[in-house]
Amino acid sequence: MKKILFVCLGNICRSPLAEAIFNHKINRLGLIEEFQCDSAGTGDYHIGEIPDKRTIEIAHQHGMEVHHLAQQFKKHHAATFDYLIAMDESNYHNMVKEIGDEPDFIYKMRAFDPENKGADVPDPYFGGKEGFEHVYQILDRSMDHFINFLKKDKG
Ligand code: 4NP
Repeated sequence: MKKILFVCLGNICRSPLAEAIFNHKINRLGLIEEFQCDSAGTGDYHIGEIPDKRTIEIAHQHGMEVHHLAQQFKKHHAATFDYLIAMDESNYHNMVKEIGDEPDFIYKMRAFDPENKGADVPDPYFGGKEGFEHVYQILDRSMDHFINFLKKDKG
């Protein structure tokens, strides 16, 4: 069982959506015995909160549920997860700072996006609903490539 942690800033928009998309795909692929995921935020603003209502809405529109309570990313996560996936450059930087090291199992989500490799998953929090659909499309496509990577890497 490999464990993946998706990380953004607030842990109420991008990373819980990434978690829901990952679970949905893993379930459809029959891989739930092999992979498990969770999410966290580098900031402490929303600890204990359910996802943003726009995150819940966009997930519902695409036929999936988001179940998560926000938690803050801490150094100990690097010891218990096999893959750390940052949504943007700032999250990546803050995670490396918190860990005190740059482990070889930390990646940016869009390292797996064939369309704009290495770019940030944009923060949709201060924008409108369309920003959440944009984030969904980026995550949906990046996740397929991430899962292919995991299937090859797990051995
Ligand atoms: P997330 O979005 O990092 O995708 O969860 C944000 C949520 C909250 C804030 C910023 C980004 N905030 O500043 O409260």
